[in-house]
Amino acid sequence: IVPINPIEALSKGNMLQIIFFALLFGFGLSVIGDKGKQVLHFFDGAADVMIKVTGFVMLYAPIGVFDSGFGGLTVAREIAKELPRESIVYLGDSARCPYGPRSLDEVDGFVQQICTWLVGRDVKMIVIACNTATAAALPALRETWPDMPIIGVIEPGSRAACEASPSGDIAVIATESTIRSGAYERYISALHPGARILSKACPLFVPLVENGRFRRGDVVIETVAREYLEPLRREGLDTLILGCTHYPLLTDIIGHIMGPGVT
Ligand code: DGL
Repeated sequence: IVPINPIEALSKGNMLQIIFFALLFGFGLSVIGDKGKQVLHFFDGAADVMIKVTGFVMLYAPIGVFDSGFGGLTVAREIAKELPRESIVYLGDSARCPYGPRSLDEVDGFVQQICTWLVGRDVKMIVIACNTATAAALPALRETWPDMPIIGVIEPGSRAACEASPSGDIAVIATESTIRSGAYERYISALHPGARILSKACPLFVPLVENGRFRRGDVVIETVAREYLEPLRREGLDTLILGCTHYPLLTDIIGHIMGPGVT
């Protein structure tokens, strides 16, 4: 309960701190005697109202969602579909996109800035709708804001892949930074210790998608995709994780190369 500041406790809706102050105040008044007890009774009621108001405010606080650019809007759209009563604050860092070719340390610095901004907007939770940002910063973010629920995309993606893969032969394609971090391997091995995990960075996918080259029949993207994916196809895996916000736009092309046996 540090910093101990009643105004801050109220504005942030920190229940522990609010209860602590209410008790402290009550104890002070009870020492004064009968008059104090009447005042105490009044404040007891007031504290009850305050707790209800705080709960109400938290209920209506927005969910913060961010990505290195606009790709994460697909995630925000799914959240809006699943939780239509929630409001969302979205930040797309398109000024510094792409994150994929940058160092993990640099991306970590960007993410700390973005989350500071979101926390300043009183969000009640943060969703990192970016694989590279999740890979670079999630553990550090949870240390910086231990009371804030923070969800990345790598853990749920790994869980879905483990559930989808009967053999445990799983591949992941992602940006250079995500692959370098080894984050998918860590999560998958924790969930499925016997899994065989192949990983491949596909650095040309993001710039090509950004330039509108993601449709079947486009010779450039199909050639690049075949170059990246053919070695994975030959490995006989059954599940492929599209570990980057841009790759779902390539689902048709990737599915065609990998064949119907690959989820
Ligand atoms: N949003 C990034 C990701 O999911 C892809 C774009 C970028 O490199 O910034 O990894």
